Amino acid sequence: MNDRRNFIKSTGIVAGGLWLAPSLLQAKQGIAASDRVRVALIGCNNMGFGILRHHLALPVVDCVALCDIDQNVLDRRITEVETATGKKPERYTDFRLLLERSDVDAVIIGTPDHWHCLIAVAACRAGKDVYVEKPMANTIGECELMVNAKNQYNRIMQVGQQQRSGQGFIEARDLVMNGYIGKVRKVNIWSNFNYGLGNLIQPATPLPEGVDYDFWLGPAPSRSFNPNRFHGSWRHFWDYGGGLMSDWGVHLLDMAIWVEENPAVPSKVLTYAANVNKENRDRDTFDTMNVLYPKKDFLINYDMNGGLETGPYGKPYGIGYVGEKGTLVVNRGGYEIYPEWDPEAKAPKIEAKKLEVMTESHNLHVANFVECIKTRNEPICPPEAGRIAALHAHIPNIAARIGAEELIWDETKREFTGNAAANKLIWPNYRAPWILPKITS
Ligand SMILES: NC(=O)c1ccc[n+]([C@@H]2O[C@H](COP(=O)([O-])OP(=O)(O)OC[C@H]3O[C@@H](n4cnc5c(N)ncnc54)[C@H](O)[C@@H]3O)[C@@H](O)[C@H]2O)c1
Repeated sequence: MNDRRNFIKSTGIVAGGLWLAPSLLQAKQGIAASDRVRVALIGCNNMGFGILRHHLALPVVDCVALCDIDQNVLDRRITEVETATGKKPERYTDFRLLLERSDVDAVIIGTPDHWHCLIAVAACRAGKDVYVEKPMANTIGECELMVNAKNQYNRIMQVGQQQRSGQGFIEARDLVMNGYIGKVRKVNIWSNFNYGLGNLIQPATPLPEGVDYDFWLGPAPSRSFNPNRFHGSWRHFWDYGGGLMSDWGVHLLDMAIWVEENPAVPSKVLTYAANVNKENRDRDTFDTMNVLYPKKDFLINYDMNGGLETGPYGKPYGIGYVGEKGTLVVNRGGYEIYPEWDPEAKAPKIEAKKLEVMTESHNLHVANFVECIKTRNEPICPPEAGRIAALHAHIPNIAARIGAEELIWDETKREFTGNAAANKLIWPNYRAPWILPKITS
C-alpha cells in the first residue's frame, strides 16, 4: 500500500493537497473493500493513464492488463504500474485479444476519438463495463451506436466529462438550478487556448520503432506517418478528432446542458467559423468559431479562439450563466457571482459569492464509475448525456466543414433537415477491414 500511495503522490493525483485519501473516498462512495474490480486500459499514453491512476488509488481496483499500439508507451506504463502495485499487468497490442479475457470487469478507453466507438461497442459485447474518454465518439452516428450498445448489453458506461463530478461545478449548478441568479436567459461559454492552432508543419519522419501506425489509424483513412498526426496532436484532424471544439468545447458545453430542465440535442445551430491563423500550422480544424444554440430554456453562446489565451473576467475559458439577478462565472479555478444592481432598491439584487479553489474531479468521476460497476446504478455521465454534449460540438463542426451557417437537427429522424452535405458527415466511412458496428436501439 505504501508503494501505491507513493505512486499516487508521484503521479500528481495529490494535486493541490486536495486529494481524498483512498479510504475516505471508499467510505464516501460506499465501496466494499472485499469486492475487487479488475480493470484494463486501452490507450495508455496520456489521459487514459491518468484515469487508470485514479482507479488504482481506490483500494478495490486491480489493473489486469494494458493495451497500446506503441510498444514504447506500453513498456513505460507497464513498469509504472508494476512498481506502484507490485503486480505486472498483461501486455496487449490488440484490444480484441484483451477483451477475450474473462478476468476483466471494465475497460478504460484512452485512445484518440476515432477509436472510441469501435472499442466501446466491442467491450460492451464482451460483457465489460466502460469508462470512455470524451468526446464519446468522433461522429454523431457513433455516439448513437454507443448508447445502443450500453443498453443492449446492459453495461455501465461512464463518459469522461469529469466536471460533472467536481464539487465546485456541482455547487455552481445547484445555485443556478435553485434560482439564486434568477431566470437564466443566456449561457456564455468561451474557450481560448494557444494549442488550438495545432503544431507547426513538419516533414514526415520515419515511423518510430515499436509503433504500429496502421493499427493506430484503424478505421481512419490510410496515410504515411507524420508526428503531427500522432500522439497528442491528432485532435486537430477531422479523421481522428474535432479540434478545440470537441476537445475543450465539449466539457464547457456540457456545463450548459447540465442546467437545462430537459437536456436535449439542439434543434437549431448557428455557426460562424474561420481560420484566422493557419500560417505554417498543420491542422484541418478551425481556430475561430462562434456558435449560437437557441435552446428551450436559454440561449447558449459559444465563443472559441485557438491561439489566444485571454478572455472575459480575466479567464482564458469559462462558463457564464447570465441570470436576471446576477451572473455566475465558473471554470476549473472556481466560481464567482456578479450581482445585478437594483436601481430602485439601490442595492445589489443578490449577495456576491465566490469559491476560489476547485477540488480535483477526475478522482470522484472514477470513484462514481467504480461504485456504479458494483451497484449497477447509472453513473454521473452516462452515454446519453455524453451524446448530447458531443452533438453540441459535432453539429457546428459539420456546419463549419460544409460552409453552412444554419443547421436544423431532427432528433426523431436522426438527420439534418434539408442538408444532404451535412447528412453525409453523420456517419464515418470506416476503412476495411474495420466495420461500423450494427446495433439498433
Ligand atoms: N477528460 C479530460 O479532461 C481529457 C483530457 C485530455 C484528453 N482527453 C481524451 O482522452 C483521449 C486520449 O487523449 P490523449 O491526449 O491521451 O491522446 P494521446 O495521443 O496522448 O494517447 C492516446 C494513446 O492511445 C493509443 N492508441 C491509439 N490507437 C489505439 C488502439 N487501437 N489500441 C490501443 N491503443 C491505441 C496511442 O498509441 C496513445 O498511446 C481522447 O479522447 C481525448 O479527447 C480527455
